[in-house]
Amino acid sequence: MPVIIVSGSVCTGKTTLAKALAEKLGFRYFDVNKIIIKYKLAEGYDRKYHSKIIDEKKLAKVLAHLIELNKNCFGMVIDSHFSHYLPKKYVDLCIITKCNLKVLNKRLKKRYPKLPQKVKINLETEIFDTCLVEATEAGYNVLAVDTTKKINIDKLSKEINKRLAK
Ligand SMILES: Nc1ncnc2c1ncn2[C@@H]1O[C@H](COP(=O)(O)OP(=O)(O)O)[C@@H](O)[C@H]1O
Ligand SMILES: [Mg+2]
Repeated sequence: MPVIIVSGSVCTGKTTLAKALAEKLGFRYFDVNKIIIKYKLAEGYDRKYHSKIIDEKKLAKVLAHLIELNKNCFGMVIDSHFSHYLPKKYVDLCIITKCNLKVLNKRLKKRYPKLPQKVKINLETEIFDTCLVEATEAGYNVLAVDTTKKINIDKLSKEINKRLAK
C-alpha cells in the first residue's frame, strides 16, 4: 500500500495538492492537524512561531499505527508539515510543495492578516528551503512540486505513479 506524505512550508499548497491527489489516485486522505487533536499530541504553543509544539515521537507512533490499520486500502496521502517525523521505511514518496516567494507572501498575509511575525517566519522557512532540506536529510524519495500556479493533476499523478512503480 503506497504511502505519500505531502510536506512544505505553511501556505505552499499542501492541503490543496494532497486532497486533489488523493482523489485522483483513489487514496485515503489524512489531515495530520486532525490527528494531532484527536490523539492529543500537542504539548503546548510556541509563541514565537505561532504554532503548536508536537510530541514528535508520539506522532510518529500514531502515524505508523494508522498506516498499519489502513494497510488494506489503496493508498494513503498524509497532509502535514509535521509528517516528516515518520521513519522513511513507511514512506514511498515525500512531496514537498514549493511556492514563489511573492505569491507565498500574499497567501500568508491573507491567512494571517494580524500576525506579521508568523508571515515573516514562514517566508523564511521557504527561503531556507527547510522542508526540502529536512526531507532530503531524512532519506525520503523526494519530489518537489511548484504550486505557484494551478497544477496539472493528471500529469503529476502519472509522474507519481511512475515513481511509485520503481
Ligand atoms: N496550485 C495552486 N495554485 C494557486 N493557488 C493555490 C495553489 N495551491 C494552493 N493555493 C492557494 O494557496 C493557499 C494555501 O493553500 P493550502 O493548500 O491551504 O496550503 P497549506 O496546506 O500548505 O497551508 C490557498 O488560498 C489556496 O487556494
Ligand atoms: Mg494545510
